[in-house]
Amino acid sequence: MLSPYHKEKTLNKSDILIIGSGVAGFSLAIRLAKSCPNEKIIVLTKDKEDESNTKYAQGGIAAVWDADTDNFEKHIADTLDAGDDLCSESAVSIVVKEGPEVVGDLIDWGAKFDREKANPTEYDLGREGGHSENRILHYKDITGWEIERTLCEKIKSFPNVVVYEHYYAVDIITQHHLGYNITRVTPDIECYGAYALNKQSGKIETFLAKATVLATGGTGQVYKNTTNPSIATGDGIAMFYRAKGRVSNMEFVQFHPTALYNPAGENPDFLISEAVRGFGAILKTKDGKEFMHKYDKRLSLAPRDIVARAIDNEMKTRGDDYVYLDCRHLDHEAFKNHFPNIYEKCKSLGIDAFEHMIPVVPACHYMCGGITVDEYGKSSILNLFAVGECTCTGLHGANRLASNSLLEGLVYARRIANYLAQNIQKMHYKEGIPKWNASGTTDPKEMVLITQSWKELKEIMSNYVGIVRSNVRLKRASDRLYLLYQETEALYTTTTISPQLCELRNLITIAYLITKAASFRKESRGLHFTTDYPDKMPFIENTYL
Ligand code: FAD
Ligand code: SIN
Repeated sequence: MLSPYHKEKTLNKSDILIIGSGVAGFSLAIRLAKSCPNEKIIVLTKDKEDESNTKYAQGGIAAVWDADTDNFEKHIADTLDAGDDLCSESAVSIVVKEGPEVVGDLIDWGAKFDREKANPTEYDLGREGGHSENRILHYKDITGWEIERTLCEKIKSFPNVVVYEHYYAVDIITQHHLGYNITRVTPDIECYGAYALNKQSGKIETFLAKATVLATGGTGQVYKNTTNPSIATGDGIAMFYRAKGRVSNMEFVQFHPTALYNPAGENPDFLISEAVRGFGAILKTKDGKEFMHKYDKRLSLAPRDIVARAIDNEMKTRGDDYVYLDCRHLDHEAFKNHFPNIYEKCKSLGIDAFEHMIPVVPACHYMCGGITVDEYGKSSILNLFAVGECTCTGLHGANRLASNSLLEGLVYARRIANYLAQNIQKMHYKEGIPKWNASGTTDPKEMVLITQSWKELKEIMSNYVGIVRSNVRLKRASDRLYLLYQETEALYTTTTISPQLCELRNLITIAYLITKAASFRKESRGLHFTTDYPDKMPFIENTYL
């Protein structure tokens, strides 16, 4: 969508600017459109409006739904347990207790979740790793697609929301752009909006806003193998960090245990949902033997950090490229009903899930850290809020519980909407913001300088800062990242801006933050495992950078 009045303008004003159109950004825009009908809301998104991590979510959305078997205490306990003693108890309580209401709103907005075949008045609740009860609402194995469809349709009904597709946010605007020297200890850094590249015209436009919200999603593209689509380049976290904002827990990168092993290579890797294990599938080594009993009594349904590490260990000690997920014993009809997309994808590669075991490998999946926010999504920069996967709310601690992410985005979007409905009247535009200065830059002559650095970056992160880390590996990564950083900064200051260059630059920042946070953590906890400090230490807090 592109606003009809927009055409030649390079200065755009809105009361609230949201960057990102996934579950977090769009659900926030919908709520604001209702609660602030007189305010103008602009949503910028760098691709088509539905392209997001959200769209690819498979397993579903966790919420306490069946009062006969489940309750808030159980969901809270499971989340805390998965988070390995690093969750904020208050964030966990907020998300779990507000969860059923926001999922209810999603249903009111038109989202369809599967119902039990035998009892269609009840939702069919799935199970995933680390959950002690069935509490995952899902739409077959394409829940994210259904949620994104609902939000895209709903948002069209509000005239005060304008969505700008193919607009790439380059930088958030702060006092730095007015010529002030801003450092990490400058108090009261303020945000006035963002500069964004109109990908069609190639021009950078200024977007002024009273309040700006980053809803830019994840960072998966920093690794070679990832389930995240190409938009997941950590832009929001990197922009925010460049603006001297506070981020936390960046060392906790979640690897999903079961991405489909495809020797032909695919980007992103296709996910085999954890719900498949919740449905009864069993992990086995290449010779068909079960192995999870060696690692956790919950077997294939242990939390993700444990399962991914176990698979990594089996692959490394045996010298195998993958392990198997065995679905052959499952009810074929029920499996096809619940997982039609997964079944068909495997079939397209010659794998009939009822005849053959599915080869799987861990792949980077989710960033548990990010922009540090409080219970209203407020960041350390004034007038700048953040929501969704780009944030660290404290919910996930050292490891996210499956299907808690979509829920977190919805809950915090509602909290930000409520806060802004109360406060937006008291907020103001900043006048005198300069236009983007592109003087002294020329068009890139050799794209290979960018593409090769992308490849190197992914290799460095996958080889040295993956599931298992060590001091030596982290030092190596950090030395090589510094070189890439210098080369890319030199390119950035002399070259006309392109999304590819900005994304590379942002991913280098993300890689630096992950590596630095990992070096600070002298213990193994949740998703951060290092051979130099294999044990968990008592009383170690979040890593703030
Ligand atoms: P996203 O949905 O990723 O949206 C980010 C938006 O920001 C996109 O629109 C993007 O284009 C835009 N953007 C980014 N940078 C810029 C920029 N510079 N300028 C303009 N726009 C920008 N979680 C669950 O809870 N349950 C699941 O079953 C589940 N399954 C998953 C399966 C897969 C394959 C993947 C990849 C993730 C899954 N997750 C799941 C995680 C979950 O989908 C995400 O964490 C969640 O959708 C993130 O939502 P978000 O709105 O924060 O970000
Ligand atoms: C999955 O379906 O396995 C993904 C669920 C999640 O990431 O929460």
